[in-house]
Amino acid sequence: MTNHPLNVGIIGAGRIGRVHAENLAFRIPEARALAITDLNRDAAERVAARCGIPTVAASVDQILADPAIRAVLICSSTDTHADLIVRAASAGKHIFCEKPIAHSLAKIDTALAAARQAGVKLQIGFNRRFDPNFARIRAAVVSGEIGAPRLLHIISRDPAPPPVSYVRVSGGIFLDMTIHDFDMARFLIGDEVEEIYTAAGVMVDPAIGEAGDLDTALLVLRFRNGVIGTIDNCRQAAYGYDQRAEILGSAGSIATQNCYPNQATISTGQSVRRDLPLNFFMERYTESFASEVRSFVQSVVQGTPTAVTGLDGRIPVVMGLAARKSYDERRAVKLSEIQ
Ligand SMILES: NC(=O)c1ccc[n+]([C@@H]2O[C@H](COP(=O)([O-])OP(=O)(O)OC[C@H]3O[C@@H](n4cnc5c(N)ncnc54)[C@H](O)[C@@H]3O)[C@@H](O)[C@H]2O)c1
Repeated sequence: MTNHPLNVGIIGAGRIGRVHAENLAFRIPEARALAITDLNRDAAERVAARCGIPTVAASVDQILADPAIRAVLICSSTDTHADLIVRAASAGKHIFCEKPIAHSLAKIDTALAAARQAGVKLQIGFNRRFDPNFARIRAAVVSGEIGAPRLLHIISRDPAPPPVSYVRVSGGIFLDMTIHDFDMARFLIGDEVEEIYTAAGVMVDPAIGEAGDLDTALLVLRFRNGVIGTIDNCRQAAYGYDQRAEILGSAGSIATQNCYPNQATISTGQSVRRDLPLNFFMERYTESFASEVRSFVQSVVQGTPTAVTGLDGRIPVVMGLAARKSYDERRAVKLSEIQ
């Protein structure tokens, strides 16, 4: 390991690009952002000024041509990811790419092949694996603390639906929202899902249905090793962001609760209550965003495999396509049916 920070370039200065830029600037001394670019130059300039990034690049090409930059963080909109992975790989840059890689398996396969052929590191932004609560569940499975897993439950509900303009280009609830839960299911159990059954509907906002999407879903997962899982999704929970998981194993269970801004309980003559959970992913998963980039930087610097591989990015997309097919055809769908 060298003592010099790893020089990275950031592509995309929107919501998530800013999160990663701030973490690099203030929390990850092992790396530094040398340049940032965005189609919206003002956005890139704002993030650069806030985070002390020396260069606002006029284009992605300028970042890829800079020999001082060894890695890129792809934080632009989903429809750009696969192409940017191919371009960054052919420029020999190591790649951290936000989820999902793409909505189409053909595009994903082209991107993964490019990264493999170039021999560059590729990590996909499934940040929840780095959340201390979920990491503790995984540790209990690995150590055998709760015995052999039998049942898995993931509850993942948003505080409020995104705008319909976002829904239209999101790839649908399964590729946009459930995709994190598919990754979580594979990560927690440490095995692959064989079959998915989806019951779903539009209960939050009819406009989401008019855009061709769903907003409420319950999915049943059958794993290869026999474990049965559920994922419970809704685009709206009146009490805020609801992110919990439980595994029942042969020797016990492990469950995590929501995270709160404080630990206070308020007791009165009428009730005992507490404040609402942390409101959305920016607040709830703050630590995990920093940890995932720290882990990526370590993989590049130490030459070790990344914690979330390209294949880990591909399989949840297969699961999302299977989930939609199950809903459309009102039957359980095997992942092997998805080409
Ligand atoms: N891991 C997570 O929890 C998480 C959270 C939010 C977003 N994301 C993912 O991150 C990506 C970005 O999401 P966001 O919420 O930050 O979106 P956003 O719309 O806030 O930001 C995207 C930015 O990318 C820029 N952009 C688009 N095409 C570009 C290009 N070719 N070159 C340079 N810049 C370009 C846009 O101008 C915009 O500023 C999406 O793929 C999303 O799925 C992941």
